[in-house]
Amino acid sequence: MRDLRISVTDRCNFRCNYCMPKEVFDKDYQYLPHKALLSFEEITRIAKVFAAQGVQKIRLTGGEPLLRKDLERLIEQLAALRTPEGLPLDLTLTTNGSLLARKAQSLKAAGLQRVTVSLDGLDDAVFRSMNDVDFPVADVLEGIEAARAAGLGPIKINMVVKRSTNAHEIMPMARHFVGSGMVLRFIEYMDVGHTNGWRMNEVMPSSEVIKLIQTELPLVPLEPSSPGETAQRWAYADAFGQPDPALGEIGVISSVTQAFCGDCNRARLSTEGQLYLCLFAVRGHDLRTIIRSGGSDVELATSLSQIWQARSDNYSELRSALPADTGVLVRRVEMSYIGG
Ligand code: GTP
Ligand code: 5AD
Ligand code: SF4
Repeated sequence: MRDLRISVTDRCNFRCNYCMPKEVFDKDYQYLPHKALLSFEEITRIAKVFAAQGVQKIRLTGGEPLLRKDLERLIEQLAALRTPEGLPLDLTLTTNGSLLARKAQSLKAAGLQRVTVSLDGLDDAVFRSMNDVDFPVADVLEGIEAARAAGLGPIKINMVVKRSTNAHEIMPMARHFVGSGMVLRFIEYMDVGHTNGWRMNEVMPSSEVIKLIQTELPLVPLEPSSPGETAQRWAYADAFGQPDPALGEIGVISSVTQAFCGDCNRARLSTEGQLYLCLFAVRGHDLRTIIRSGGSDVELATSLSQIWQARSDNYSELRSALPADTGVLVRRVEMSYIGG
């Protein structure tokens, strides 16, 4: 267990249809009531126990994490945590970028190290239709610039590719970010949750993405930088076919065509304190009850190690053997609830 993802809100100001389709997440949708959410103190307490058990990276997610009020206060508390070796944790956040221009400075000042920004295209019309709330792409680009100016790097950019919607944005995105010092990552559209109407024919395999980029910008594969990494890394090549550090690298996340469950080292804490061991889990483990009923840190630590040792999740490896509507039948939890 190395990587803990903490969802700090189940709300979002975007309605990306692969994640929070408008028809489901409408004005009548019941979000969690405030008292159900873990407080910052509760989150920090749980994170501390995780850090003592080997977690080295904490990612804040949502929903859109920057919608959570006073998030900087939580970041300050998490930035003070240490690994058993006395090192600070890798503290990062995944955001849609809409509030980043306003918040980059204060996030950095609170102790956030870096950010990953979701960006599904550069064309304004495509971007507005993908976020489905008519949000302009220029504001997200401004947010990315603010994050860079604040020193929240290395910045990663995540692009979910849906074949019929934004595949034609792959090359413009590659051209825009090559040589920028930011790492662009292409993510295969996944069947998370049970509401996004996923279809295999909308998935563009990473191998195809790489082939397309190679037609204009030559690439060479890189070794993984750590075990259990989600992305396969590729460097832009120089004239001799060697990685060119000035041009930088990209990543592809192939969770559909090349599952990477085997060495998964990620755990997810939902907004209300349920621990999920897999993005595709149906059930979580209730940590909030343990702490709200007076459980000690030792009890929490014991539960964590029992939960982790019993884990057997490998949904992405099983996907092709299961019926296509499995997610709907079992009501898998939504990504906006357990975090991306
Ligand atoms: P860094 O490289 O350290 O920044 O983190 P990361 O590679 O974990 O990146 P990030 O958190 O941005 O995750 C990228 C995307 O990978 C997510 O948005 C998901 O689409 C996908 N992903 C992350 N974890 C899992 C997982 O456990 N299973 C599957 N199938 N997909 C995942
Ligand atoms: N498939 C792939 N990635 C998804 N995300 C959300 N829904 C999906 C999906 N269906 C990821 C994206 C986004 C992050 C917040 O969650 O990477 O950038
Ligand atoms: Fe919001 Fe991110 Fe989901 Fe889009 S992918 S709806 S920005 S949580």
